[in-house]
Amino acid sequence: MTRHRNASDGSVAVLEPGQEADGEAVLPFGAADAAAGAVAVTVDDDAEPAVMAAGIVLPPPIGAQIHSGRFARRGFMKVVREGAPTTTRQAEVLNTAIIGSPTDERGVVIGIDRISAAMIAHDPFTAYEAKHITSPNVCVLGMIGSGKSSLIKTVYVERPLLLKNRRAVVVDKKPRNGEGEYADLTRRFGGEPFRFEPGKRGNGSTCMNVLDEVILAGGGPAQQVQLLAAMAQQAGTGELDEWHHKSLRSAYRAVMRRFELGVPGRSAPVLPDLVEEFADVVDSDEFARLRPRTLDLVEERAWSMRLRFERMLGEDLEGMFDRETSKHVVLHPKLTTFDISALPEDGPATSMVMVVANAWLMGMLTKHRGLRTNFIAEEGWHLLGGPGGKVIRSKSKLSRGLGLSIVAAIHHISDIPDDSEAIAMIKEAQTIHLFRQEHDDDIADCVRYFNLEHSNGTSLGTLQQGDHLLKVGTQKEIKVQHIRTANEIVFTETDSALITQPSAGVVVGDERQPQLAL
Ligand SMILES: Nc1ncnc2c1ncn2[C@@H]1O[C@H](COP(=O)(O)OP(=O)(O)O)[C@@H](O)[C@H]1O
Ligand SMILES: [Mg+2]
Repeated sequence: MTRHRNASDGSVAVLEPGQEADGEAVLPFGAADAAAGAVAVTVDDDAEPAVMAAGIVLPPPIGAQIHSGRFARRGFMKVVREGAPTTTRQAEVLNTAIIGSPTDERGVVIGIDRISAAMIAHDPFTAYEAKHITSPNVCVLGMIGSGKSSLIKTVYVERPLLLKNRRAVVVDKKPRNGEGEYADLTRRFGGEPFRFEPGKRGNGSTCMNVLDEVILAGGGPAQQVQLLAAMAQQAGTGELDEWHHKSLRSAYRAVMRRFELGVPGRSAPVLPDLVEEFADVVDSDEFARLRPRTLDLVEERAWSMRLRFERMLGEDLEGMFDRETSKHVVLHPKLTTFDISALPEDGPATSMVMVVANAWLMGMLTKHRGLRTNFIAEEGWHLLGGPGGKVIRSKSKLSRGLGLSIVAAIHHISDIPDDSEAIAMIKEAQTIHLFRQEHDDDIADCVRYFNLEHSNGTSLGTLQQGDHLLKVGTQKEIKVQHIRTANEIVFTETDSALITQPSAGVVVGDERQPQLAL
């Protein structure tokens, strides 16, 4: 019998308090639920003892054994290398997908392999550093209700945050009980979501200043202008041409110069300052030698830009981009949440906040290096589709250097235009979670884009909630059941029929579960 030495069929060891783990993928669990198991991490990161006391519970994995190791003191399990007693041939017969594609031992636990019941763990950062994959970006695909958010909330937010030196920044789009679906989790980690409410000034609503020094620090003037251009494009109709860009650069330079020279009582320009500059663009020195017809063109484009930026200061975007960045917008050591659940479904607001939040984060990361950060964009086409995607992509090398992984969820590949930056980002992402797809053409898209085994492709149509195909790098996909702990079930439950009590706790069936604190 050949032993499978891959992590995909490796057994799981449960550590007892006082024992030590020397392995890689480890799972913390609360003392009270020691027998039951856990959530996951990588050993080189070390978990935060405070959060560890939480008592996060996972059903005991099949083949769990006691193992010794120093992490046991804090209540960890560890994946051991010893394979489950499955021969390669047996496994092949069961499912070709599990053969070639073990997941990383050093990883955040996702759940179990649907065929072998082995624990599956993966972490884009450690896998990227080990050169198993070429990008830390993650793409999660699946129809509504298939389990995308639950996976992201646990595997890319809560579980990594149990580690030291990990951070997550979420753009929270989905309303749940009158605020974003991450509101509870954000508070459990000690933060408060930044709430965006168009038309509301003050009263806890959030404003982001695209011209401030944090965003400037994230990529320099060229990228700040690129961000402004992306926003201007979204705020108007039609593409920007080279004269639009030229007039934007001219106005941007003018406003920056004015503030470098000093404006009493003001430290940085805000968008209304930029808006003012457009009127003078046509008179700037750089256009002095142009003939009248070209000057008319410059003036027209400058006005067009002005109107686009004015649009950002009023109507449905009012109060969101017109002043200095709100004081409460600070990078939380654990979970930072931009709550955009109150923004209208249509219109540019959502995409704008996502792209601005990403730019702001890049700026913050240049100042606060050393942590690995997951940037979560649920409904990721808002971020990657459209002009914002170009900004994100142009910074992807820089973001890797800053330890940033973009985790984007989308419903179907067909939501995204073929030639857009988003498609390129999806193709580049090396960690793909494919949840259920309803339509044959969406399934066919997945098979083609991710080079899936045909039989796995067809199974996309019948996956249960939480089940998905995981594809890491060029390895073959595996079918994974995402496992949630009891606590996690409470904060990931989005089927509204199950949620009746917004603030006091969550009612599941008839039983009220206590509000759980991490
Ligand atoms: N791992 C899982 N196991 C079992 N059920 C799950 C799992 N993940 C999610 N679900 C169920 O599916 C519902 C929808 O999940 P959600 O993550 O909100 O889907 P999506 O974000 O794709 O719309 C959840 O409320 C829950 O009932
Ligand atoms: Mg969702």
